[in-house]
Amino acid sequence: MLSERNFIYKRMLNMSVSYCEDKKLWILESKNTSYVIGLDEESNLQNVYWGTKLPYVNDYPTVDFKHGHSSFDAREGFTNLEYPAWGGLLYSEPCLKVTFSDNVRNLSLKYVGYEITENAEDISELRIDLIDSLSYKLQVSLYFRVFKELDIIEKYSKVLNKGENPMTIESIQSGNWYLPKDENYRLTYLTGRWSGETQLKQTILTEGKKIIESRRGTTSPHANPWFALDKGNAEEEHGDVWFGALAWSGNWKIAFELSTFGQLKVTGGINDFDFSWNLKPNSSFITPIFTGGYTEKGFGVASRSMHSYQLKHILPKEHANELRKVIYNSWEATYFDVDAKSQRSLAKKAASIGVEVFVIDDGWFGERNSDKAGLGDWNVNKNKFPEGLTPLIETVNNLGMDFGIWVEPEMVNPDSDLYRKHPDWIYYFPGLPRTEARNQLVLNLARTDVKEYIYNFMDNLLGKNNIKFIKWDMNRHFTEPGWPGVAIEDQKEIWVRHTLSLYEIVERLKQKYPGVVFEACSGGGGRVDLGILRRMDECWPSDNTDAFDRLKIQEGFSFAYLPKAMVAWVTDSPNWLNGRALSLIYRFHSAMMGTLGIGGNLNHWSKEEIEIAIKMISLYKEIRPVVQEGNLYRLLSPRTNNITAVEYTDKKGLEILVFAFLHSSQFGELPKAIYLKGLQATALYKVEGSDELISGTALMKRGIYITLKGDFDSKLIRIKKIESI
Ligand code: GLA
Repeated sequence: MLSERNFIYKRMLNMSVSYCEDKKLWILESKNTSYVIGLDEESNLQNVYWGTKLPYVNDYPTVDFKHGHSSFDAREGFTNLEYPAWGGLLYSEPCLKVTFSDNVRNLSLKYVGYEITENAEDISELRIDLIDSLSYKLQVSLYFRVFKELDIIEKYSKVLNKGENPMTIESIQSGNWYLPKDENYRLTYLTGRWSGETQLKQTILTEGKKIIESRRGTTSPHANPWFALDKGNAEEEHGDVWFGALAWSGNWKIAFELSTFGQLKVTGGINDFDFSWNLKPNSSFITPIFTGGYTEKGFGVASRSMHSYQLKHILPKEHANELRKVIYNSWEATYFDVDAKSQRSLAKKAASIGVEVFVIDDGWFGERNSDKAGLGDWNVNKNKFPEGLTPLIETVNNLGMDFGIWVEPEMVNPDSDLYRKHPDWIYYFPGLPRTEARNQLVLNLARTDVKEYIYNFMDNLLGKNNIKFIKWDMNRHFTEPGWPGVAIEDQKEIWVRHTLSLYEIVERLKQKYPGVVFEACSGGGGRVDLGILRRMDECWPSDNTDAFDRLKIQEGFSFAYLPKAMVAWVTDSPNWLNGRALSLIYRFHSAMMGTLGIGGNLNHWSKEEIEIAIKMISLYKEIRPVVQEGNLYRLLSPRTNNITAVEYTDKKGLEILVFAFLHSSQFGELPKAIYLKGLQATALYKVEGSDELISGTALMKRGIYITLKGDFDSKLIRIKKIESI
């Protein structure tokens, strides 16, 4: 049993999860923050605190014993239940809603026990068990992991059917986050559409619910499962910010619910829309992980914590610590006209400018001459590659590059041998039309035979060819989500089963082919989330390769996800989407802010352009450790400024990069001061192009002046620490 003194002692021992028996509080502490759960006299778990770490145990509030407000707002609706289950007097968004086999739809979860595990490094875990007090033999375990150095907590839940009858789960959420009482929260979130993903938006929350979600079968470009909340006054480097993200690539939902008593609750997990799960006796359901964090130091720290967390704990281990290579992708150069000859000539050019991975995109298989046919037939098209892929792969390897290839495994064109053979392998309702989008249908990955088909063709492709990079695409959303032949009570499971099968296939492939790097793509950034980033090494953020539009797309991306996972190509000018012409240097600067790729038709690049490309790629190779693994500071946002400026520093503040982009010159405006961040205050630095040394403080407080002229001008400024004072 731990007294308060013991608790303080434990804190000195650096434990990040402790139970204080006197106060009946579980205290989860990271470097700067605390998350506190209490047990009330009726064995309910209440969340009592999430914010700045407080010095004394007595500083933390205990559970809420209020008697409620009226018969319409009783205590159950007032207290911040850590994992509210639907039943009794609860009317807000539940974490769990179940129908039992006798049609009872009511739950009352009560505490039964807990376990703390102090793990290696900086992670500690807490499990708290609850059971349904109405004896329906349902057990819920809540899991928490504290990442001490990062001020980040993960939570998820597991529901176990301990009874003799099946039960139907109608909603199961990963968890809730409660914010300190206030009625003035501002939500920052990412929204968009195809070719305009991860656009950052802000809105003040008022009473009621604001929901961001996907009902499309995959993450979707329309909203992203990430959020940040502040009191309307946080900025990049100051202010309280609570943030979170869901690790799920299927239908998801995050509800921000402000009660009429000023309590904001964030509930997130698998979308309950059209969802149900038949939980058989002795089986369990585990939710996706919901990650949350808090900082007093603004959106910049919130992003950098997420970046470090992803680098250290999310990205698949095989390649997490490797620098991402420079890719060439031939999509915009040849579209569906891929063949051995065109690809070989592009490969030679790509190698000559310093590319490290050569990727052929759509069009290499089946009868794939346009988007009308071929998906599902994953055999090499003999007209385009008469001798198969091997000679091309050998050429690419002999040129010193890895070979990569595009696939879209979850899809089928009706005009394909696969569909002619297996018209029942898709989601459909018998007798109803099968809605096509981009002339394709979605394969039913909930089926074991379909899952095995996909695994086997991928295994075959990777086993027979020296492929080191896979671009895994997904170009339409679900319709008619039927699974004929399966019991009606199981059919709505497809939303979850599809994603679980996808994860399983990728995990099995990764295990067998650990050297292969996976890129997640869904018509651009339609599948960017912490679930896919646990399994795939990087993401394609958008089909929009206009280097100016990318500044906003990449800025939004950077709020939630790390630059190492953000692939950006330099493509041809004028850009195919907006018709905008931009200098090659500007296009490089924009793409060098993440994992650099080249996507233009190199056969059309002039000698001068090839020379610029050689220089810029070699420069990128010098700076990529800082870009991909350093700290990112958003200095000037493209949403609100004529100049965009983003700074990257290595973790020690020794090497600094500032990317600056001018939109358009007006009224002969003079250069603006750009104030740097995150430098060592008393160290002396040298700014490229100047012979003088200048202190970190001066760079941060006086700033630097970058001359940008005309329209769409850009510069990359390198700054190095020379000595400590
Ligand atoms: C999607 C991807 C593109 C490209 C095409 C190929 O749109 O986002 O990058 O791979 O498919 O059909």
